[in-house]
Amino acid sequence: MAAEQSAGLLDSAFYQPANTFFPAQAGLALTYDDLTLSTLYSEILPRNTSLDTELAGGLRLHLPVISADMDTVTESHMATGMALNGGLGLIHYNMPEKQQLKEVSRVKNHVHGLIQEPITVAPDKTVGDVIELIETKRYSFSTFPVVGDDRKLVGLLSGNVLKPRYAAKQVTGALVPRDQVQTIRQSQLGADPIAIADQFFTDHPGINKLLVVDDNDELHGLFTLSDIERITTEKLSQFRPARDDHFRLLCGAAVSTPRNDDGELDRERIVTHIGALIERGADVIAVSTAHGHSKGVGDAVALIRAAYPDLPLIAGNVTTAAGVDYLADKGANIIKIGQGPGSICTTRLVAGVGIPQMTALYVASQAAKAKGVSLLADGGITKSGDIVKALTLADGVICGGLLAGCPETPGQVMEISGKLYKQYRGMGSLAAMKSGSAARYGHAPRDANRKVAAEGIEALKEVSENLDQLLAHLIGGVQAGMGYLGAATLPDLRAKARYIRISPAGQKEAAPHDVVEMKASS
Ligand code: XMP
Repeated sequence: MAAEQSAGLLDSAFYQPANTFFPAQAGLALTYDDLTLSTLYSEILPRNTSLDTELAGGLRLHLPVISADMDTVTESHMATGMALNGGLGLIHYNMPEKQQLKEVSRVKNHVHGLIQEPITVAPDKTVGDVIELIETKRYSFSTFPVVGDDRKLVGLLSGNVLKPRYAAKQVTGALVPRDQVQTIRQSQLGADPIAIADQFFTDHPGINKLLVVDDNDELHGLFTLSDIERITTEKLSQFRPARDDHFRLLCGAAVSTPRNDDGELDRERIVTHIGALIERGADVIAVSTAHGHSKGVGDAVALIRAAYPDLPLIAGNVTTAAGVDYLADKGANIIKIGQGPGSICTTRLVAGVGIPQMTALYVASQAAKAKGVSLLADGGITKSGDIVKALTLADGVICGGLLAGCPETPGQVMEISGKLYKQYRGMGSLAAMKSGSAARYGHAPRDANRKVAAEGIEALKEVSENLDQLLAHLIGGVQAGMGYLGAATLPDLRAKARYIRISPAGQKEAAPHDVVEMKASS
C-alpha cells in the first residue's frame, strides 16, 4: 500500500495534470512537440473508444476532425468525405456566393453510394477520346454512361472496350445499348436507396452497375456494386457518418463579412447569404479571421447571432482567454484557437505575433469552461499524436495541410519530376487574398491588388492516399492514444491527461532514428 502510494506520488511529481503543468510553465509557450502525455492504467481497448464530440447544441460529430475552410482544402467533395467519416467540412468562401450555396447543396443532397453526377461521355466521341480523357483526368474508373445532348441515356461504355485496338471506333459502336443497360427509376428509390440497390445487385448476379433515370429516361445517378458492398460493411463500423435530423450529411460554411461603401458591415448581404446557406441545410457557419479579438469580428458575430439566435456559430481566431470571452459574449458558441501555427502560415514571421498551440489551448480552455463554449484547435496538426494532445484541451481539431494532398481537395494534380502534387495555399497568401479572402487578414478586398504583407504562402503537397484511408490512419492513432490513457471518451481523455515537457533529445528519440527507413509509415 505504502509502495503504491509512493509510486503515485512519484508519478504525480513528474506527470502533471493541465492545471498544474501549464501554470508551472507560464512564461514559456509550448506546442505539440514540446510535451508528451504519460500513460495510465487502462482497461480500454483502442477499438472501444468513442470520439463523439458535441460542438454546440445539436451539432454532434462522431469524429472530432474538421477540414479547414481554405480554397485548396474544402469544397463539396471534401466536405462530403469528412461527414461520411463522422467529421465535418467547412466550405470556403473564395467563390461567388451562389456557387457556395451549390456546394452546400451538393453535400446536403448527397446520397451515400449513389454517384449523383456520374462522368458521362457523348455517343459521337471515339473510344480513343475516352482513353485520353481517363489519362488526362486520372480517373480511377473506366465505365461511363453514354448520354446524348438531351441528357437521355443512350447506353453504357464498359471498361472492357477501352483498348487501343478499338481507339478509332465511335462510342455508339462500342457501347452496351440502352435496352441492355440495367436501370431503376428515381421515383422507385424510396427512403433507403442503398437497401434498394443492395437488393437489386443480389437479385442480378454478374451485374455491377445500376443507373438511375427519371421518367424521361434522363440520367440521374449511378450505383456500383463495389460502393454498395463497402457501405454495407461500413454499417457495422462505429464511425458513422455525421448527419442532421433529416439523415442528411452535416455541412458547414465559412462566410465573409463584407462592408458597404461607408465602412459599415453590410448587414443585409450577410444576413441574406447566411439565410440562404441555412435554407440549403448548412448546419454551422464560421466567421474565420486572423484576429478574432477585434471590433470588426465581434460586430459581425453579434450581427449574425441577433439574426439567427439558434445557429451554431464558429468564430476566431484567438489565442487568449480575453479573446475567448469576447467572442463568446458576442454570441459565438465554438471558438477557433490558433494564430500562426498553420503549415502555410507566416503570421508569426510577418507580424511577430501568435502563440504556440498547446499553451494557447490551455489558456483558452480555462475561459471556454467558464463561458460554456467549445474550442477547436486550428492549425499546426501534422500527425495523429498532435490530435490526441489537442483533444486533451479542445473539443475538435481543424486540419488543412494534413488533408491537402487528398484527391478530395479542389484543384488539379500536377506532375513534377515524376511525383504527383496538389496546390496548397494560405488564405493569407497574395493569390488567395486576390480570390476573396483579404478581409480575413484585415485588408479591404481592393488592397489585395496592391502591395500588402501576405501572411501565408503558396505551396505544394504531395498527393496522398484518399480521405477515407487517411482518416482511418488518423482515427487509429487517436484511439491508440486514448487506449494508452485508459480513456473511453473524449471527456475522459481531458480528465486523465498528464503532461511532461520533452527535451530536444527526447524529441529526436520520439521519431524513428538510427535506422535506414525502408518504408515510411503513412
Ligand atoms: P494547417 O497547419 O493544418 O493549418 O495547414 C491550417 C490553418 O491555418 C490557418 N491559415 C492561415 N494562417 N496565414 C495564416 O497565418 C494564412 O495564409 C493562412 N491560411 C490558413 C487557418 O486557420 C487554417 O485552418
